[in-house]
Amino acid sequence: TSKPAPSKPERNFVKVMQQQGRRCIIFYGSQTGTAEDYASRLAKECSQKYGVSAMVADIELYDLSYMDTLPDDHVVFFIMATYGEGEPTDNAVDFWELLTNDAPEFSASDSTDTPLENVRYIVFGLGNKTYEHYNSVGRTVDKHMQQFGAQRIGERGEGDDDGSLEEDFLTWQETMWPAFCQALGVDENSAQSGPRQATFGVEELVTFDEALVYHGEIAERLNSQQAKVVYDAKRPYNAPIVTREVFQDGGDRHCLHVDIDISGTNLTYQTGDHVAVWPTNNDVEVHRLASVLGLSEKLDTVVLVKAVDPAASKQYPFPAPTTYRAIFRHYIDVCAIPSRQALTSLVDYAPTEESKATLLKLASDKDEYRHAVSDAVRNLGEVLQYVMGDTSASATTSASSFASVPFDLIVECVSRLQPRYYSISSSSKEHPTLISATAVTLEYKPDASLERTVYGVNTNYLWQIHSKVNQVDDGRSYPLYSLDGPRGALLAPDASHVKIPIHVRRSQFKLPRNSSVPVIMVGPGTGVAPFRGFVRERALQKKDGKSVGPTTLFFGCRHSQKDFLYADEWPALFDTLGEGSQMITAFSRETDQKVYVQHRLQEHGQQMWDYLQQGGYIYVCGDAKNMARDVQHTFVSFAQIYGGKDEDAANAYIKQLRTSGRYQEDVWS
Ligand code: 2AM
Repeated sequence: TSKPAPSKPERNFVKVMQQQGRRCIIFYGSQTGTAEDYASRLAKECSQKYGVSAMVADIELYDLSYMDTLPDDHVVFFIMATYGEGEPTDNAVDFWELLTNDAPEFSASDSTDTPLENVRYIVFGLGNKTYEHYNSVGRTVDKHMQQFGAQRIGERGEGDDDGSLEEDFLTWQETMWPAFCQALGVDENSAQSGPRQATFGVEELVTFDEALVYHGEIAERLNSQQAKVVYDAKRPYNAPIVTREVFQDGGDRHCLHVDIDISGTNLTYQTGDHVAVWPTNNDVEVHRLASVLGLSEKLDTVVLVKAVDPAASKQYPFPAPTTYRAIFRHYIDVCAIPSRQALTSLVDYAPTEESKATLLKLASDKDEYRHAVSDAVRNLGEVLQYVMGDTSASATTSASSFASVPFDLIVECVSRLQPRYYSISSSSKEHPTLISATAVTLEYKPDASLERTVYGVNTNYLWQIHSKVNQVDDGRSYPLYSLDGPRGALLAPDASHVKIPIHVRRSQFKLPRNSSVPVIMVGPGTGVAPFRGFVRERALQKKDGKSVGPTTLFFGCRHSQKDFLYADEWPALFDTLGEGSQMITAFSRETDQKVYVQHRLQEHGQQMWDYLQQGGYIYVCGDAKNMARDVQHTFVSFAQIYGGKDEDAANAYIKQLRTSGRYQEDVWS
C-alpha cells in the first residue's frame, strides 16, 4: 500500500487569496526581519483600520507568475529590502528572476507586452544610503511592474536605514493610505479606531507534555518519518564550536576566533560566504522586560502562542508550546530599540497619568523619541522603566508597572530575534567542513552622561561561552547569559564545548576564477576576516603549484601590538605567496596623525594602478560608511592620476569595475 503524498502548500497566491477572501496580499523580501515586520504592520492596519482583508506572505512561498490573473479590485504590496550590492534578499531571488527576465512567463502566457495590466500594486523599499545601490530592489520592482502594465497606487516609498527607516516608513504611510482608500473605494474617514484586535492568542497551559515544550530550538522538531534535514535559514544547524582569543587589547575589546564544525552535515560553504549565528539574550535584559511586564514569577509557565486567524500564513510566531523564559531569551529581540508605533500601542496600558503622558510624548514627538529612545539605545524594558522615572541600573520601582499589557501585544510589537551574520574567515578549499568566524566584543556608551553601556548581544554571548569553556577570568564586567538553561543543555557535560545554531549565507564576494590575476584587498579591523580566507586560499593554490598573481592586503588597526588580528599567521602566508605579494599595515593610534588604510593605499598608487591594468580585482571589507567610501575615492583618484582620466571618466571606470565584478565589497554599517 502506498501512503498518500503529503499535500503540497498551494503556490498560486491568487487562489489562496480567493479561498481566504483576501483583497490584499503583502509580500515581503526580508533578510533581517524588518521588511517582514513592516508587512505585518501594514496588514494589520489594512484589515483593522480600513476593513480590507489582507494577508502577509513570504515572497518565497508563492509563485508570482500568477500575478497576471489577479482581479483588478485586489492589491499587491511589495515590501522589499535591498541587500549588499543591490541584491534581492535570499527569499526574493525567484521573484527577482521572474521580473527581471527579458521575456517573463506569466501564467496565462498571453503574448502581450503588458501582461500585468489588471494589477494594482504598492511598493516600499528598504535600503541604506551608505551603499552604492540605494534601494535598487524596490526601484527595480517598481520599474518592471510598470513596464508590464501594472498600476502603482500612491508613490513608491523608500526607507533609509542610515537615517531613520522607521520615520521614512511612517511618513510614506501618510500619503499611501489615502491613495489606497481612493483606489479601493474605501471611505477613509470611516476608518476604525475601535478596540484592538489581537493577531496572536496566548494560552497558558496547565496540562502539557513536557517532551513537546520548546526551550529555545529555532525550528520546529522533525518527526522521525521526515526525510534528511536540509539546514538553512529556516532550520539552522546546532554546530559544535571551539573558540580562541585572537587579541585582547588591554581595554574592553576582545577578539574571538570561532571554529564551527559542519562535518557530517549537508552544509557547505565557499570562501567569502557569510555564516549566520543565532544569538541568545542576556539575563539582565530578559529579567528587566519580564519584571516590568509582571512576568518574573511566571517565566517557566508553558504558553501556546498562536495566530488568531486560522488562515494566517504564519500560524506560530516561534515554536510552540514554549515558556515565557524561552521567548525572552531566544525568540524575541528584547534588546532592540522599540519603534514609535510599538510605543503608541502601549500608551493605554501606562499605570499612571504621568507615565502615560511621558510614553505618549516619546511615541508622538520625533525629537523626544530620538533623544530618549533611539540615540540613547534604550530597549523596550528600559523605555518602560524610563517612563516610570526609573533609570537606576537595578530599577526595582518599575516592577510589574506594565503588567496589564496583554502578552500578545508584546509578541506583536517586539521583533523576532534574528541571526547575526559574519564574514567567514576560513578557506573552504583548505577546510571544507570547518567554518571560521572572527568577532570583536561590542560595548559602547550611547550618551554623553556615560552612565549606561550598551552591549552587543551575540559577541558578548560568544565571549561568555569562550570564558566559561576556557576558564578565562579577566574581571571584565558585562551582563551574563545563562549557559545552564535549555540551550545550555548544548554545553557538553565537561563544559569542553558548546553548540550554537548556525546557517550559511551565500555571497557574491569571491576570488577571481583565474588565480594568476592580481588581487588587492582592503580590510581594516574585523574587515580583514574574509581576507584571512582569501590569503590562505591563495597560499594553498601556490603550494599546489598553481600560478598565483600578486596578492596585496591593506590592513589597519589601532596598535601593532594590541589589536593586530592574526598577526602570528600572516608572515608565513606571505612567505609562501612570495615575491610581489605583501601585507601593508596602517596603525591609526601610534602616531599623532591618524594613518588609515586609504593613506597607505595612496602611497602604493602606481603599483595598484598597474595591477588593475593587468586585470586585477579589488576587494573591500569593513565599515561601509567612511572607510569603504574613502577607499573608493582613492581608487577613483588613481584613475585620474595614473590613468589620465578626468573625474567623470575616472568614476565611470570604477563603476565599470564594479559592474564586471572586479570591485567587490563586503561592507556593513
Ligand atoms: P581609529 O579607530 O583609530 O580611528 C579598524 O577599526 C581601524 O580602522 C582602526 O585603526 C580605525 O582607526 C580605522 N578607521 C577608522 N575610521 C576609518 C576610516 N574612515 N577609514 C579607514 N580606517 C578607519
